[in-house]
Amino acid sequence: MQGWLIRLSLVVLSSLQPIHAFGFVAFPAVGRRGMVVTNQVLASEVGVEALRQGANAIDAAIAVAFALAVVEPSAGNIGGGGFMLIRTADGSVNSIDYRERAPLLTHAKSYLDVQGVLPNDANHLGYKAVATPGTVAGLALAHRLYGSKPWAQLIAPAIRLARQGFRVSPAFADDLAHYANELQKYPSSKGVFLKSTGEPYQPDDLFRQTDLANTLDRLARQGVNGFYRGKTAQLMIQAMIANSGWLRENDLTSYQPMVRMPTRGTYRGYTIYSIPPPSSGGVTLQLMLNMLEAENLSKLGPNSAAYIHRLVETMRRAFALRAHYLGDPEQVSGMPLSTLLSKPFASRLIRDIRSRKATRSHPDDVPWHAEPMETTHFSIVDRLGNAVSNTYTIEQHYGSKIVVPGAGFLLNNEMGDFNPVPNLTTTSGQIGSSPNLIGPGKRPLSSMTPTIVTYQDRLFLVLGSPGGRTIINTVLETLLNIIDFQMPLPEAVAAPRFHHQWLPDEIVMEPYGFSPDTTDKLKQMGHRITFLSPDSPMQGRVMAIQIDPNTRKRLGFADLRGADSKAVGY
Ligand code: DON
Repeated sequence: MQGWLIRLSLVVLSSLQPIHAFGFVAFPAVGRRGMVVTNQVLASEVGVEALRQGANAIDAAIAVAFALAVVEPSAGNIGGGGFMLIRTADGSVNSIDYRERAPLLTHAKSYLDVQGVLPNDANHLGYKAVATPGTVAGLALAHRLYGSKPWAQLIAPAIRLARQGFRVSPAFADDLAHYANELQKYPSSKGVFLKSTGEPYQPDDLFRQTDLANTLDRLARQGVNGFYRGKTAQLMIQAMIANSGWLRENDLTSYQPMVRMPTRGTYRGYTIYSIPPPSSGGVTLQLMLNMLEAENLSKLGPNSAAYIHRLVETMRRAFALRAHYLGDPEQVSGMPLSTLLSKPFASRLIRDIRSRKATRSHPDDVPWHAEPMETTHFSIVDRLGNAVSNTYTIEQHYGSKIVVPGAGFLLNNEMGDFNPVPNLTTTSGQIGSSPNLIGPGKRPLSSMTPTIVTYQDRLFLVLGSPGGRTIINTVLETLLNIIDFQMPLPEAVAAPRFHHQWLPDEIVMEPYGFSPDTTDKLKQMGHRITFLSPDSPMQGRVMAIQIDPNTRKRLGFADLRGADSKAVGY
């Protein structure tokens, strides 16, 4: 019997903890016309209201993205960047890369001290960690190419939520209390995220963001110029100069989002679209699917030891190639993308996978540092069948923790996604390969994997997740649950997850979903296993929409790993 079958009862740790169990039963939200699934119920409602008023999925995505910048400030943003994958009802698929760029003043060794050593976490800390934000330019480009409603109308709900405020949920109150120490290092952040008394917000308190409302108002009136020029830009640059950051006016004025051809591949008759470099998501996901297609996974059974072994060996190989080859296509020449995406190449890679023995990435045993979930994904399908899969981020939870004084929004710390020390690849997972070294104006390699799946040219699935490098494996495992194991959407999303990323050479598992007899078998094969800590026991938060092939109803499911997440259909 598979280990997971043992856990038939639901395990609820506390009111804010998710449920981890197979044998789990839940119903998706059902929408006859449209569906919005986000990590924050208020943003889902903004999106569905836009759809009701006749907006298309791209309009709704813009409204949701601005709303999340207000109601999920730890990850929703205007000070960060991301990727939007769009499939229009006529079947064409396109992507918008609005990833942040390194300030022009930076270079490959920007974070090293005079001895060439990286001071602890320097690439993630303070004003110097901030890359040029791309979100507003990306959303504006999406609007220019696909929008049908006025731009200002799409920002209006976010302005209202910021100016009038919204009620703090228990999960948001917990989160703010948890990050209070880090946030209050910056007076501007303290002013937003703590009460005027210096106390953390409590559940049900009204949370208002007047500076942010004014900034959003400038964006509504002036478009991209309301962010990259004028008052908002001035406030950002003044703060940068006063605090020795690298971002300057020309970084902002020269920022351009890019339209990129999505990755496209197949898996067991399904067509998989995702994001090309500078995200590693699409290439790594497709590479793994190609490697797995040769194996009869449904025979192995979901989360059996044999299945996990097979996936881990696949992940190990794909993540090594990811580190070796991928970076910003504007600055890295010769990325072998067509090879990495080809089925014959995948067949060669799996030749040395043995059925009962782990390969070694590196002989040393090292601690694993979990990738937390500081990004946010949303999926939208409208009445016409247009679909948006969008992941965006400010990198860590609350990004750099720096609110731009007077402008009310958090800046990213995306510079931490570059390889910080040239040529230094360590067993703990620091990568030093050249494609992702810092370069002026370069985009850091991302793992964001907003994905759209079609079957027989019809829309089938829209999904994505936060979680740094774990994102790619989270999307992979969810896809396999649906395609290979035919799980209903809620079960596929709720199923326990695991992650391997080549280095460190460990499988990291969610703590409540794998039985000792499964993990023992894996250890006997030579795998090292660690578990996410009970304080932070979750890998990713999938926000997914599946189209019922017969009725064309939109089935939405928001991962229960997100306390405030919600699928809303109409
Ligand atoms: O672009 C990326 O892959 C990351 N900056 C995303 C960050 C994330 O999901 C949160 N966790 N580390």
